[in-house]
Amino acid sequence: MDLSTVIAGVSFPNGLMNASGALCVTQTELEALGASEAGAIVTKSMTPEPRQGNPEPRYVAFEGGSINSMGLPNLGYPAYAKLIPALKRFQKPVIASLAGLQPDDFLAGARALNEAGPDLVEVNLSCPNIPGKPQIGYDFEASERLLEKVGEILTIPFGVKLPPYFDPIHHQKIAEVLQRVEIAFVTMINSVGNGLVVDPEREQVVIKPKGGFGGLGGRIIKPVALANVRALWNIWGDRIPIIGTGGVEHGVDVFEHFLCGASAVQVGTMLVEEGCGVFARLARELAELLERKGYASVLACRGKLREIP
Ligand code: DHB
Repeated sequence: MDLSTVIAGVSFPNGLMNASGALCVTQTELEALGASEAGAIVTKSMTPEPRQGNPEPRYVAFEGGSINSMGLPNLGYPAYAKLIPALKRFQKPVIASLAGLQPDDFLAGARALNEAGPDLVEVNLSCPNIPGKPQIGYDFEASERLLEKVGEILTIPFGVKLPPYFDPIHHQKIAEVLQRVEIAFVTMINSVGNGLVVDPEREQVVIKPKGGFGGLGGRIIKPVALANVRALWNIWGDRIPIIGTGGVEHGVDVFEHFLCGASAVQVGTMLVEEGCGVFARLARELAELLERKGYASVLACRGKLREIP
C-alpha cells in the first residue's frame, strides 16, 4: 500500500511521524525516530538556550489521553543545529520545531536553522505551558507579525503549529493570516491547553507545574483535532497541506484525519506510551484498512469526508 505523502514539495516515505515534544529531545531519541518506521523526524521545540523545563511530575497519562506541562525542556538552537545535518542519514525528512520565549528568539532560531538545513521548519505558535506566556496563536496580529519576520529570514519552507480553535471565525482569521504570509503547511492541533486532571483519591492534581493545569493530548482531543483539520480543509482544499495531530491511536484514526483533509499525521501521546514501534503498527493497521476499503493509496482518501445532505 502506498502510504507516501508530499508536504510543501518534500517527499515523505509515509505520512506518519512524531508530534514535536514526544520522544524527540535528545540525540538518542531523535536517532531512534530515524531508525523507526516513522516517515519523518520532528525535533522538540527549541529555544535559544538549553532548558531543563518544569519540575516533575510534568507528564501523566490517564484513561482519556495525557496531560503535560513540560516547560520546553530542550537542548537549545546551537545543539540542534549541530545534530540536524547528521539526522539526514536516515533518508527521511527532518522537521525542526522552532519556538522561543519572545519574538526575537524566533528570528535567531531561524538564522541557526538556515545553517543547519532541516527539510522543513515548523514554527510553534502554541506552547501552553510557560507561566506568564500566552499562546501566540490566539493573537492573530502577533502571529502575523512574527511569521512575516521569520519568513524574511528563513530560506527553508516553513509551516506553523497551531493551537485548537473553537469558533469558525477564528479558523477564518488564522487562515487569512497564513495565506498572507504564504505559509507552506499547517500542523494542527497542539495540545488543548490548560486542561486539569484530578486524582479524586488523593484529592490532588496530577502534575506539578502551574497548579496542575496542562496541555491535553490523546484520545479525548481527537474530535477537536479532526474539527480543526476539517475547518481549514474546507477553506483551502488542497492548496495548503495540513498535518493532522491529535488522538492517533490506531490506523483508523489516521484514516479519519486524512478523510478530514490531512496530508500526514503526527503521533504524540501514543508514541510516548508505546515507543517507536507505534509507527510500524499504525502503518500496518492503516494499510489493512485502506486495502479493505479499496483505496490504492492513503492520499486517495484525503478530504473525502462526506456531509449528510
Ligand atoms: C511544550 C508543550 C507544547 O504543547 C509545545 O507546543 C511546546 C512545548 C512544553 O511544555 O515543553
